Amino acid sequence: MFSVLTVYQVSGMSHSLTVPVAAKLRLCQPAPKTLDLAQSLEARGASWITLHARTVSARRRRQGEADLYEVKRLKDHMHIPIISNGNVRVWADIQDNLQFTGADGVMIGESLLGNPWSVTSFAPKTHDSTYHSLFANAVPDPVDISLEYLGVCRDYPGTATIPNIQTHIRHFIDFQWSAH
Ligand SMILES: Cc1cc2nc3c(=O)[nH]c(=O)nc-3n(C[C@H](O)[C@H](O)[C@H](O)COP(=O)(O)O)c2cc1C
Repeated sequence: MFSVLTVYQVSGMSHSLTVPVAAKLRLCQPAPKTLDLAQSLEARGASWITLHARTVSARRRRQGEADLYEVKRLKDHMHIPIISNGNVRVWADIQDNLQFTGADGVMIGESLLGNPWSVTSFAPKTHDSTYHSLFANAVPDPVDISLEYLGVCRDYPGTATIPNIQTHIRHFIDFQWSAH
């Protein structure tokens, strides 16, 4: 995956590759400029756009509310599929997000690290006592997940950096810590 591409690179790739080329964006500043960028990518051949509807922040990369209104604006004004990213923590968030934005799909990142069950329709909606009694055994043990993940990292060296591995394992542990 390329981390930063210009509109022209997307154009070049979409016209020379035989596979679809899609782009994932953060919000521009000011936010309404995001639609201009997305439309420019659409005009140059992007097959779909994923909008992570937060602005880039060096310190708190994924925190704060995603601006789903901007996802909706892309969906309302564009023709290619739009994927909505941000604010999805539990199953109900997926439904709410799709209903509000009209997006063609959602992308989920961080919450799956903590609880891979979060996107199942029977996953816990809250971390209250009902959750603990019904689902405590359903959430994988963070040590099991961590050991399995370390095994994958060992089998595929170079896939994740040591700082990334540390961050991922902290997510496994943090979720369980706050849930229990
Ligand atoms: C472990 C992890 C790895 C990620 N790797 C990438 C990546 O390689 N490229 C990218 O554009 N976004 C990456 N992201 C960001 C997510 O795709 C997503 O945009 C972000 O986490 C916001 O969604 P969320 O609120 O559901 O977490 C990553 C996120 C996480 C948690």
